[in-house]
Amino acid sequence: MSSRREFVFAALASVGAMAGLPSCSSETSADSYATVAERTWRHGNVAVGDKAALLHELVRYATLAPSSHNTQCWKFRLEDGAISILPDLSRRCPAVDPDDHHLFVSLGCAAENLNQAALANGLKGHAGFDAAGGDALRVVLEPTKPVASTLYQAIPERQSTRGEYDGQPLTRQELDLLEKVGAGDGVQVILLTERQAMEKVLEYVVQGNTAQMNDPAFVAELKQWIRFSGDEAVRTGDGLYAASSGNPAAPTWLGSRLFDVFFTLKSENDKYAKHVRSSAGIAIFVSDTPGPAQWMEVGRCYERFALQSAAFGIRNAMLNQPVEVSTLRPQFADFLGIGKRRPDLVVRFGRGPKLPSSLRRPVPAVLA
Ligand SMILES: Cc1cc2nc3c(=O)[nH]c(=O)nc-3n(C[C@H](O)[C@H](O)[C@H](O)COP(=O)(O)O)c2cc1C
Repeated sequence: MSSRREFVFAALASVGAMAGLPSCSSETSADSYATVAERTWRHGNVAVGDKAALLHELVRYATLAPSSHNTQCWKFRLEDGAISILPDLSRRCPAVDPDDHHLFVSLGCAAENLNQAALANGLKGHAGFDAAGGDALRVVLEPTKPVASTLYQAIPERQSTRGEYDGQPLTRQELDLLEKVGAGDGVQVILLTERQAMEKVLEYVVQGNTAQMNDPAFVAELKQWIRFSGDEAVRTGDGLYAASSGNPAAPTWLGSRLFDVFFTLKSENDKYAKHVRSSAGIAIFVSDTPGPAQWMEVGRCYERFALQSAAFGIRNAMLNQPVEVSTLRPQFADFLGIGKRRPDLVVRFGRGPKLPSSLRRPVPAVLA
């Protein structure tokens, strides 16, 4: 984040505050961003035997999963002994995700959190793709011995950390376990830790980012999901809070204007170069077959990778431009030597400081 940009944001915000401009001073929502974030990212406990409360709590854990642009593009249908995760197509992002690939991957991430939380509460989840049920993932819950796994314990710790990392390598054991937990049915993880290979990936990221930033539909869609102020992030409970990406928060009227000035190709591509060069490695998730069922499995695999990373104190962030730009994806697949398989996600990882966490809508808002 260039200091000049921070300086301008801060200067204008304080001038606004002094001039008594609306929402330039401290946040106006009942609860501050920090309070809501703390309330969101925590373990909970449910009274033994309270089935209804337990199902709600499992949904709450599922919603702590990552989703593209933090759209939270999911709905949960509660049944006696089962929870179905359905796509919420009103939260599609057609510019960045025209075939809903990311949308279904996000549902898979939610399903993995649900399964880990269910097991910690003595329920084994059996997930099955349910095309007739609206392309849903139906998770049947069977009583079993409770196990609070390492992945479950890491759920409140996990985040997408879009900052600089320390550039230090991971141990062989850490890399082997990440590769193992990130693999699944028709899904493989390719770990790149050689600088030369990571620089090659960076070239694809810059190419893809250039294409996306020259696409007005992409920029408009992205901007629509940005929450410039903590107030706005609290009010909507979704979207990309500016501070979660290492950008200074600002009142929406100001942030929106400054975005148009400072969201430039050069500054963004320079940022990605710094981020990749500060990372320990890049993980690429690859899948065998196209379609919602496989993409949900990719999501489950990525979420296990992200939770195991969090358990190790390792951060991660997505760099999906090479797989989002449809003209670039086949070239990227050739570079990876994966034949007809699809590269689904590009994830950099390494150790570094946390950033402010993203928020979530309350459980009642996501029940079908
Ligand atoms: C399928 C998928 C694609 C994503 N693509 C990107 C991306 O290209 N760039 C990025 O910075 N974050 C990406 N994210 C991360 C989301 O923006 C992030 O999960 C969301 O903002 C919630 O924040 P959290 O992960 O810290 O809880 C993606 C997440 C998912 C599940």
